[in-house]
Amino acid sequence: MTTLEPIATPDVTTPSLYLDGIPHERFAELRATPGVVWHPYEDSRSTSGGFWAVTRHEDVKTVSKSADRFSSAVGHTNLWDLEADALEARRGLIDTDHPDHTRLRRLVAGAFTPKAIRTWQELTRTIARELLDEFKAAGGGDWVEMVAAPLPIRVILTILGVPVEDADYLVELSNYLVEGTGDEQSLAPDAFGNTTELRLLPFGSPASHALFEYGMKLRELRRDDPREDIVTALVQAEAAGEKLALDEFKNMFQLLVFAGNETTRTAITHGAMAFAEHPDQLRRVVDQDAKLNTMSEEILRWSSPVLHMRRTATEDTELAGTAIAKGDKVVMWYASANRDERVFDNPFTFDVGRSPNPQFSFGGGGPHFCLGAWLARLELDELFGEMAERNMGLRMTEAPVRAPSNFVHGVLSVGMEPVHR
Ligand code: HEM
Repeated sequence: MTTLEPIATPDVTTPSLYLDGIPHERFAELRATPGVVWHPYEDSRSTSGGFWAVTRHEDVKTVSKSADRFSSAVGHTNLWDLEADALEARRGLIDTDHPDHTRLRRLVAGAFTPKAIRTWQELTRTIARELLDEFKAAGGGDWVEMVAAPLPIRVILTILGVPVEDADYLVELSNYLVEGTGDEQSLAPDAFGNTTELRLLPFGSPASHALFEYGMKLRELRRDDPREDIVTALVQAEAAGEKLALDEFKNMFQLLVFAGNETTRTAITHGAMAFAEHPDQLRRVVDQDAKLNTMSEEILRWSSPVLHMRRTATEDTELAGTAIAKGDKVVMWYASANRDERVFDNPFTFDVGRSPNPQFSFGGGGPHFCLGAWLARLELDELFGEMAERNMGLRMTEAPVRAPSNFVHGVLSVGMEPVHR
């Protein structure tokens, strides 16, 4: 093992840094430093003094695939720590290890296989067409509000069995959850009638309480009136004696609503911004010089909608020649792995024909690899495929307003207008 000279670590955690986009130069510096770099990190919720910043593609893959050494259940999957009772109350699929993880994932995995997802192709296409029609008729506007947010939420809510009329309310709740990952929250602790201590709620947000309440109501409805949807499947799994504690149901519901819309919205928004900036790349899709699937993979690589996930070492171990002690936090920065010059030629070039493209936006592999990856790909294929079909380009009319978050690469709004070619 090598002993490394301490370096002045470039900060990549201050949420406001991300108001100007991903601090790629800082990540490049971390990638170029041998071993893994210790990154100091203190906030009101964190006690450990820092984390190991894993920034190279190969090392992200190793951590992702070594779930026995790098746990999702010990500690938390975000940067900050949680007290033991909060960790238990907030625990969902994403914060579990085998065997709990395997049990929970089995309950929902069947609904997200490539085959199961193909059944949603027509629905996704119809929604994409409607949204593009409305966007064109209005002469453009805020792309996030008009296209990027409604498409994924409408699709995931249909799959879950949530009435589409409630989509706007659930988008609003998801937005508050994103806010919970930043410096400030605009909600009062008792918003939405919340009486739970915020530290016990996912994202520390009262909006989680509202999502829980919503999920519980739907659970009751589906008990009496089963449908072909995931909430019914979860209710039936409970009835069939599968172990699904109430907290697990609530956390699963809120994870699916959140993960199923916020991330894909971000990919759709960065995709649109990339096409506005590089119209030649959309032209390649129109001319079928690049396939829809390579286009979508490149949008995913380019956008890194989830910037990082954390694990905690379960034993004294080693990564890239650096000693890691049991209990240390290990943070995988997908945003950095997706620009790793060791793996991607010209990583800062947006190239819709890039192949192979081992992007890590859905994680670096292993048991927690994104459950909704095929759904997100379908949504990107259908939306941008439809734009190519219409030969519709985009021009940016208002600069993006970005989320001050080191966890999601969120864009709150960006003005776009359709360009007819
Ligand atoms: C572009 C869109 C998306 C991105 C970038 C994304 C990204 C991610 C990432 C990075 C992880 C963690 C991987 C790991 O820890 O190894 C994850 C997990 C997860 N994603 Fe996605 N996701 C997207 C879309 C979706 C959609 C549409 C759903 C809908 C159901 C979804 C549901 C989940 C769930 C449930 C997990 C937890 C899986 C587990 O712990 O076993 N995601 N996603």
